[in-house]
Amino acid sequence: MSAIPQVRLPSGETVPQLGQGTWHMGENSRLRKEEVAALKLGLDLGLTLIDTAEMYGNGGAEEMVAEAVQGRRDECFIVSKVLPENSTKAGTIAACERSLKRLKTDRIDLYLLHWRGRPKLEETLAGFEALIASGAIRSWGVSNFDVDDMDELVALPGGAACGSNQVLYNLRRRGIEAGLLPWCREHGIPIMAYSPIEQGRLLRDRALTAVAIRHRATPAQIALAWVLRQKDMMVIPKATMLEHVRENRAALDIKLTEQDLGELNRAFPPPKGRRPLELL
Ligand SMILES: NC(=O)c1ccc[n+]([C@@H]2O[C@H](COP(=O)([O-])OP(=O)(O)OC[C@H]3O[C@@H](n4cnc5c(N)ncnc54)[C@H](OP(=O)(O)O)[C@@H]3O)[C@@H](O)[C@H]2O)c1
Repeated sequence: MSAIPQVRLPSGETVPQLGQGTWHMGENSRLRKEEVAALKLGLDLGLTLIDTAEMYGNGGAEEMVAEAVQGRRDECFIVSKVLPENSTKAGTIAACERSLKRLKTDRIDLYLLHWRGRPKLEETLAGFEALIASGAIRSWGVSNFDVDDMDELVALPGGAACGSNQVLYNLRRRGIEAGLLPWCREHGIPIMAYSPIEQGRLLRDRALTAVAIRHRATPAQIALAWVLRQKDMMVIPKATMLEHVRENRAALDIKLTEQDLGELNRAFPPPKGRRPLELL
């Protein structure tokens, strides 16, 4: 197995390009053991970037993450998110304190605004800055921000310090290629791609299956390899099954050929022009 490529964040810190998502984890106590085991296996395989949110399982996902990283917190890069309805200055600080308690840690490595809400961005930014000053978070970023939101953000004092924009991106959701992705590259703000296998809905696709057969891989691995070939992008699939975690790690070793990319482009055409950012 090759080493895991790293992505450099605006802070200068590097994180593994492939991480682990946690949406829909921490919702059912009967699945807890399995979920913790999956995240732990991921850590053993080097997938130390873990994405969670106060929203997931109503805090349950963060509690499950705490169990998975117990005794190895320093190996991990934990991303969590504040809900828009909590994103005033005081609300952001209070939400972060609750997340830290559930995560049983003293800091969140990257804290994101989950999507835009009513509070002004200045308010959220003031909350993030206070949290950085107190050491509760090490960096901050956003999620589901389109180009106009990003323009507004970086025009604010301190707004250009944004560490990442986490957005929907996979073979079937290529809209960002026509606007947001080049914008983020120009501004040095890395994209973190969520739902990279479209929550499993991509897996029966014929073109994807044909490429997978050639590589003796699975369609999920090809879908991941397609996103992962863009080396400046973090990718955070969620997997509860141990076999899925192993497969996902191995996707890093798949090199797609020009023929593969051509076939995938025909099956999943790139966007013809700008369109609004899609979200899940
Ligand atoms: N910021 C946002 O608004 C936002 C929105 C959506 C997601 N996210 C983040 O991104 C993460 C990933 O997105 P997602 O969970 O929506 O979807 P996803 O990662 O595209 O898909 C997850 C689904 O794919 C299955 N899967 C994983 N690896 C597989 C493999 N190798 N073969 C076959 N099936 C496989 C999983 O099954 P098992 O679990 O059974 O293994 C699960 O059902 C989330 O968990 C969350 O952390 C963020």
